[in-house]
Amino acid sequence: MTHKPLVLSGMQPTNTLHLGNYLGALKNWVKLQNEMPCLFCVVDMHAITTDAGYGKPEELAQATREVTAAYIAGGVDAHRTPIFNQGQVPEHGELAWVLNCVARLGWMDRMTQFKEKSGKHKERASVGLYTYPVLMAADILVYKATHVPVGEDQKQHLELARDIAQKFNNDFGVPDFFPQPEPVITGTATRVMSLRDGTKKMSKSDESDLSRINLTDDADSIVGKIRRAKTDPNPLPDSKEGLAGRPEAENLLNIYAALADQERDAVIAQFAGQQFSGFKHALADLTVAKLEPMAKEMRRLLADPGEIDRILKSGARKARDIATPVMDEVKKRVGFIA
Ligand code: TYM
Repeated sequence: MTHKPLVLSGMQPTNTLHLGNYLGALKNWVKLQNEMPCLFCVVDMHAITTDAGYGKPEELAQATREVTAAYIAGGVDAHRTPIFNQGQVPEHGELAWVLNCVARLGWMDRMTQFKEKSGKHKERASVGLYTYPVLMAADILVYKATHVPVGEDQKQHLELARDIAQKFNNDFGVPDFFPQPEPVITGTATRVMSLRDGTKKMSKSDESDLSRINLTDDADSIVGKIRRAKTDPNPLPDSKEGLAGRPEAENLLNIYAALADQERDAVIAQFAGQQFSGFKHALADLTVAKLEPMAKEMRRLLADPGEIDRILKSGARKARDIATPVMDEVKKRVGFIA
């Protein structure tokens, strides 16, 4: 049996979204929206796995609205595509429990993001942080989603989701029950790096705000952050081979190419031999031109939180229409009396 194409993806409402979230994920969601049906969730249940979202109810709710506003301002059409928060669709948590029993400890122990996020004091991390990738698998499989557009950092979690799907299908004797969800990792900026260190991922949790461009930054801060972005002393190279060992140059060129919707080789050719100062000017202008309208639209949407809550509620209703029959079938297969 082949499964009907369906896209699902999500972002955590912790801190504000940044350029990596936009170029690595959101921008591709908007493209996919014209190719197949999509569902986009704000993963508030994931957000409480760490202190960034745990024990901060008002901040979490506000961040959930902000991420919703960013989806819409970035181009997701809420009329066509359900946008909802995970916490309003109980089937995510229900399936996650069953999948917790499918996943093996050995699989979970290999998850590199848990190691990074739990740091030196693993014993102090929440159990939720450990099983986080299982909830992510449930987010996808509860809709039998076939395509998952994400940045490169989520690849391992997607592989786990595929393993879980396959094991469930085998263990319960239903070969095609869950699809094997495909990661969709496309574009020139699948891994946007920190502006302060080209070997580190741009991240919401980096202490330095100078390391990232937030979607809500104003023009002055964008220009300032790009001006201060780390570079090396050499002029820009004239070929991609010239980027070897120059992670900052590579990152800035990738960002430019992704924002301008150009091939990276074309951008390299355009700036070949130039100093960083001139290139940074061009990059700052481009970034402001792309992000400023989005930030403005986010502000407009956030001025009416009631409307955002209505969008989430209506999205959750549509999402549940898909999730409920899948979950009913899971319960039957597992042997839960209905
Ligand atoms: P999160 O909230 O960390 O990130 C949201 C999306 O942004 C991408 N991303 C990046 N892409 C390129 N460069 C970067 N520096 C960068 N930083 C983040 C991420 O890859 C992601 O696509 N576990 C997920 C959320 C999630 C999810 C899901 C995703 C929960 N359930 C189901 C897909 C399907 C996460 O923490 O993403």
